[in-house]
Amino acid sequence: MSETTSLRGKKRTHTCGELRAKDINEVVTLNGWVDGRRDLGGVIFIDLRDRYGKTQVVFAPQHNENVYQTAKRLRNEDVIAIVGKVERRPDGTENKSLPTGEIEILGDDLVILNEAETPPFPIEDEIETSEDLRLKYRFLDLRRHQMQSNLLTRHKMAQAARKYLDSLNFMEIETPFLMKSTPEGARDYLVPSRIHHGKFYALPQSPQTYKQILMVSGFDRYFQIVKCFRDEDLRADRQPEFTQIDIEMSFVLEEDIYDMAEGLIKALFKEAKGIDIKTPLPRLKYDEAMTKYGSDKPDLRFGLEIHNVTDILKGSQFKVFETGLEAGNLICGINLQKQAGISRKQIDELTDLAKSCGAAGLVYFKVTPEALESPTAKYFSAEQLKGLRESFKAENGDLILIITQPRRQIYPTLGQFRLEVAKKFGLIDESKIALLWVTEFPLFEWSEEERRFAAMHHPFTSPKEEDVATLDQGIEEHKKKKRWTIENPIGNAHARAYDLVLNGNEIAGGSIRIFQPELQQKMFSCLGISEHEAKTKFGFLLDAFKYGAPPHGGIAFGFDRLIMLFTGSKSIRDVIAFPKTSSAMSLMDDAPSEVSREQLMELHLKVI
Ligand code: AMO
Repeated sequence: MSETTSLRGKKRTHTCGELRAKDINEVVTLNGWVDGRRDLGGVIFIDLRDRYGKTQVVFAPQHNENVYQTAKRLRNEDVIAIVGKVERRPDGTENKSLPTGEIEILGDDLVILNEAETPPFPIEDEIETSEDLRLKYRFLDLRRHQMQSNLLTRHKMAQAARKYLDSLNFMEIETPFLMKSTPEGARDYLVPSRIHHGKFYALPQSPQTYKQILMVSGFDRYFQIVKCFRDEDLRADRQPEFTQIDIEMSFVLEEDIYDMAEGLIKALFKEAKGIDIKTPLPRLKYDEAMTKYGSDKPDLRFGLEIHNVTDILKGSQFKVFETGLEAGNLICGINLQKQAGISRKQIDELTDLAKSCGAAGLVYFKVTPEALESPTAKYFSAEQLKGLRESFKAENGDLILIITQPRRQIYPTLGQFRLEVAKKFGLIDESKIALLWVTEFPLFEWSEEERRFAAMHHPFTSPKEEDVATLDQGIEEHKKKKRWTIENPIGNAHARAYDLVLNGNEIAGGSIRIFQPELQQKMFSCLGISEHEAKTKFGFLLDAFKYGAPPHGGIAFGFDRLIMLFTGSKSIRDVIAFPKTSSAMSLMDDAPSEVSREQLMELHLKVI
């Protein structure tokens, strides 16, 4: 046994996932972590682990007493070096689930390079440990096979993206992190300047303005795998700092971006899953996505399409609907096929579900060959019930579920209800891949709070050619009324914007950009950004546009989200090495933390 804890002379000849039957009789050295130790009546077995796999090592007193005595001291997660001969495992003791399961190593020498304290949770895939504890001990959590495999997928996908984009002449160009604020709709993370009193850098919400400037500079094909920072409310698929595959191209139309992005998603699916995605991908206009699926990121792995039956059901004896209609409500619903047999209790559960999605109640019809059965059926004429049956293409045994709500609310409500019902009734085929483009987004969305319009995508997105005149009209109307109203015609303008959606998740978004200073100025006017404000905030971009800006457009993929979906992870945090909690904390290094008075003084800051 060596008393030294040095690696000298004990450097690994193989990884712990490498040895096979062909290596039998070879003398090898392995380095790694003790994954487990079993003491079987005078013989000690250990599994030695590194990121490539596990190998079984045997220590027997009759073979080497000293080494056996050291092996007795081994504890999980100790870091060791072992030397020994590769042997075939005795008949019947092979481990078929392990690639190294045919062999074991008879330990001849053992060095404990470092002892480990008992870890706060076992280094195994299925652990029942709070996520907070995993995040605090992230260095241990990342030793787990599942996490290592997630990060390996992430690495491979980044390489595949680079290879694909490089093959198409894209240049990877870095853009600054310390910059002037970009408006992507979230709050900025600010960094105070020490040199310039009272001034701040903003961390990029995305490299949007820089990539557009690069187009003006003639780098007609740019990409960057880049961190973006947004101080927004966090969810399972959002992080305050996340990664985009950010792309911009010159002299392109929408079709060129779709082609390039479809090629990229194809390459990524092939790399991660070995699956060939069929292209071109289906496209759905925003308006259709909303009225059919109640979402701008519809999950098309299942049906449950929304049907508008307002015209069919108006003029009934059913008070709830009639009062709603007077207030301008719509009546819409979904057909839950083959569920007419569900119990009263299940109907109540569905009603509660609809309410939790925002509906006031739920009306149902069980479809039988003779009738549409429901406590409310008596309020509708035979003609109306026939119309319902036809509209929903209802068949015997189906269950029609209907709600009424104002136009602006009913689609989002049913969109969420549709998803929840699909989950509850197991209608989502997890093996399906439903990719689609959602196109022709509205250019603006109305902010009730601020009583003005905001950019649905960002202020650099081009309106559809035919809607430029709508902007002129809207600006005129605003001048006359001296205020913005929800009825202003710009509310109907559409954008040359598109999102890529995978199984109900927005995985990428982009647009064809405005490239003429006059149109950009119009856009700012519609957003209530004064000429002066536009000049101070985006003067550099407007200036650049004056010197020959090419038509351009681009897209950004949410890289973490993609990896989350590819690895089947429940949370985006499981595919990021060092993520933040939902309250934007890093539990391992305790960020954010207080800083010294001196640091604050230097930055001319005072905490109040
Ligand atoms: P957008 O804001 O749509 O577009 O972002 C692009 C994609 O980034 C992902 N994403 C996020 N992922 C994790 N955490 C977040 N907080 C987060 N926010 C966004 C989404 C989204 O589809 N500059 C434009 C792109 C362009 O126009 O080219 C932009 O950033 O998957």
